[in-house]
Amino acid sequence: MHVLILGAAAGGGFPQWNCHCPNCKGLREGKINAQARTQSSIAVSSDGENWVLINASPDLREQINSRPQLWPDASISRGTRIASIVLTDSQIDHTTGLLTLREGLPLPVYCTDVVQEDLTTSFPLFTVLKHWHGGLVQHTIDIDFHQPFVPEGAQGLTFQPVVLESNAPPYSSYRDNIVPGNNIGLKITDDQTGNVLFYAPGCMQANKTVRQVMGEAHCVLFDGTLWANEEMIDHGFSTKLGTDMGHMPVNGENGAIALLNEFNVERKVLIHINNTNRVLDEGSQPYHSLREQGIELAYDGMELEV
Ligand code: MLT
Ligand code: MN
Ligand code: ZN
Repeated sequence: MHVLILGAAAGGGFPQWNCHCPNCKGLREGKINAQARTQSSIAVSSDGENWVLINASPDLREQINSRPQLWPDASISRGTRIASIVLTDSQIDHTTGLLTLREGLPLPVYCTDVVQEDLTTSFPLFTVLKHWHGGLVQHTIDIDFHQPFVPEGAQGLTFQPVVLESNAPPYSSYRDNIVPGNNIGLKITDDQTGNVLFYAPGCMQANKTVRQVMGEAHCVLFDGTLWANEEMIDHGFSTKLGTDMGHMPVNGENGAIALLNEFNVERKVLIHINNTNRVLDEGSQPYHSLREQGIELAYDGMELEV
């Protein structure tokens, strides 16, 4: 299976437009060794022709325009290689790119019933988009891990939902009170090779299924939002811990590195990286420590063969 990282940053991107943290300022002023990153989205394909977009970021237009793999066939006047869309939650950074797709609707979109509820009530993107060629054609993802699904255009790949402990967005009626389905990860298996990709951009705590899938995976794309749980508080940007927002820190005893170190996975990659995260500075100790432990940092345009 082919995996394309369209955007590796968390909400806000890197640098974030109004942020002057050492990373954002350092990148703008050319004073740190770091790469800009757009907001969270990936695409997967089994044949390299038809792609499934997983999460649609506010930077989607720029992401599509800079990735030739997603450009339409030269013989048609308009079109796309994006055959369908899968959403892992109802966050702004994972859904507002749907607005960018309006000229190309209808398109199939797959999400859980509670994500569909958010996107038709408190953040009614699906409702708004009905005015463009009927809008998105919604398909419900059953949260049962044993109910696999194959999104349109993904023949040869099997998707399984992995319920994640995280949080729902601030506008959701499930904020701080989540139910299974507000956040899912995806286990994606290549039917031919049996190889497994595990994508989990927002995870606060690893449950049994997360651990099981990590044990089976050839490649894990995992929540790399914050280096430290207190990071946003320390910067004076928020009163919330990372875990309050639904993200485990990368560092520390209960962090992503410690979790990933428990498993023998060929490629361990952090994704959904917040602009404040120290690993973004490639001259920093956290970056070197990450690399020494065999963990990679996703970047825009990164291609993975799983
Ligand atoms: C998150 O992952 O917690 C959100 O994307 C944060 C945000 O939307 O800024
Ligand atoms: Mn996010
Ligand atoms: Zn910043």
